[in-house]
Amino acid sequence: MRNIYIYDSGGVGREIILLINDINEMKNRWNILGFIDDNKEMHGKKIDGVKVLGGKEILNKSKEEVFVALGIAEPKIKEEIIKGVTNWNVKWATLVSPTVYNGLNNEIGEGSIICNGCTLSVDVKIGRFVYVNFNCIIPHDVIIEDYSSLMNSVVLSGYSHLKTRSFVGSNAFVRQSIVIGEDAVVGAGAVVVKDVEAGTTVVGNPAKKRDA
Ligand SMILES: CC(C)(COP(=O)(O)OP(=O)(O)OC[C@H]1O[C@@H](n2cnc3c(N)ncnc32)[C@H](O)[C@@H]1OP(=O)(O)O)[C@@H](O)C(=O)NCCC(=O)NCCS
Repeated sequence: MRNIYIYDSGGVGREIILLINDINEMKNRWNILGFIDDNKEMHGKKIDGVKVLGGKEILNKSKEEVFVALGIAEPKIKEEIIKGVTNWNVKWATLVSPTVYNGLNNEIGEGSIICNGCTLSVDVKIGRFVYVNFNCIIPHDVIIEDYSSLMNSVVLSGYSHLKTRSFVGSNAFVRQSIVIGEDAVVGAGAVVVKDVEAGTTVVGNPAKKRDA
């Protein structure tokens, strides 16, 4: 069994407890040591049975190899955290729920998390530190670049390409071959039928720039 911390103790972090429990039911792999959280007010508290041990200094001081599951959905915050943890002993855990249908020739990068009930079909490329919440559909030839996040029940279509730090809200649908630009946000429930420009937010059906 390997020791693992969960970074941080918010909603996504607490959902990672469920994911780790599901993995452990299949094969006892992970021993949760506690939460890491940079919010000092959380230190010492116990949440869903798991103690908040302290901030990133715990990881940066570790003299032994430690695994960490990144329990954060906001792309920019994920990137900041990763860059703030400089200790080579820290290994970012790649976690895939045993309930995920993971088809053929799919790649899942370091530190990425795929939650319960997702489907990844064929030739899917998921980069590093990508978070995929419950029940997402990721079909053939989709590319999802580093630090991106999909909230629950997102449906992508073939050849869609999500660039670095893109965020797709719950229940959004993305049509085939669509490119979602870097740092773009797709609102919950949006139906995306045109490429989304980098750094913009789109909402609605059909999805349009929020302030358009
Ligand atoms: C799109 C989003 C990022 C905008 O967030 P925000 O900048 O805080 O926007 P606000 O809540 O201030 O809303 C601004 C306007 O956009 C509208 N709007 C916000 N989200 C919308 C959405 N998903 N679809 C349609 N309209 C939306 C609001 O009604 C408001 O309209 P108004 O100006 O006419 O009153 C956010 O609403 C969203 O959908 N996030 C994804 C949430 C999600 O999936 N969470 C899962 C976590 S468990």
